[in-house]
Amino acid sequence: MTHRMRATHDAILVGIGTVLCDNPQLSARLLPAGETPCHPQPVVLDPMLRTPMDARLLAGPKDNADLKMPWIVAGPNADSGKRRLLEELGATVIVVNDVDDEGRPRLGKVVGELERRGAKRLMVEGGAQVIRAFLRSERMVHRLVITIAPVYIGAAEGVPAVDTVLPHIRPLAYEQFGCDVVMVADLQKQ
Ligand SMILES: NC(=O)c1ccc[n+]([C@@H]2O[C@H](COP(=O)([O-])OP(=O)(O)OC[C@H]3O[C@@H](n4cnc5c(N)ncnc54)[C@H](OP(=O)(O)O)[C@@H]3O)[C@@H](O)[C@H]2O)c1
Repeated sequence: MTHRMRATHDAILVGIGTVLCDNPQLSARLLPAGETPCHPQPVVLDPMLRTPMDARLLAGPKDNADLKMPWIVAGPNADSGKRRLLEELGATVIVVNDVDDEGRPRLGKVVGELERRGAKRLMVEGGAQVIRAFLRSERMVHRLVITIAPVYIGAAEGVPAVDTVLPHIRPLAYEQFGCDVVMVADLQKQ
């Protein structure tokens, strides 16, 4: 399901925390037989350019000709040497100078820049900090897809509580996939 969702979006976005933890490829490869993969544009929110040079995202077309090299969104204080190295590997570094109090590019500007480059349907896959930031940004999120899985995750942190008024969640559909339950919902402002 996740891979089909990826295939129907122009771009898929994660924070640098997810790249460092999971080293994802962010491609749409696990599709039913007969469906041609249509890979989304990978985007990493990485204000200080901490993306490792050996990240799988940077292997791109060397592994698979259809994969796209990542767009990495940096802040104004990112190291210019690191930027050059990432660009030499084929990444596109997008510097957004308009930052919040924590020095992170403002999501409104980021989304505007992605749209300008043709990424109109954006899937935010994680992690927790980035999901929280999007939920806090008014009118930035149109639809939620929440998976409830019967797995103990111990002390791991989920999406942290937000300190602003959140929109109402209006469930549209539930479906069971194996042992997981997936809820699709729209957001309505309170
Ligand atoms: N489907 C899933 O279940 C799923 C999907 C993805 C990830 N995950 C899990 O989520 C965990 C990683 O989540 P995480 O919360 O540690 O990291 P994250 O949300 O992936 O990335 C957080 C980092 O993103 C950067 N960032 C850029 N703009 C930001 C903004 N506006 N707000 C917040 N951060 C911004 C910051 O980097 P700087 O600190 O350098 O500024 C921040 O440290 C991993 O355990 C991963 O496995 C799960």
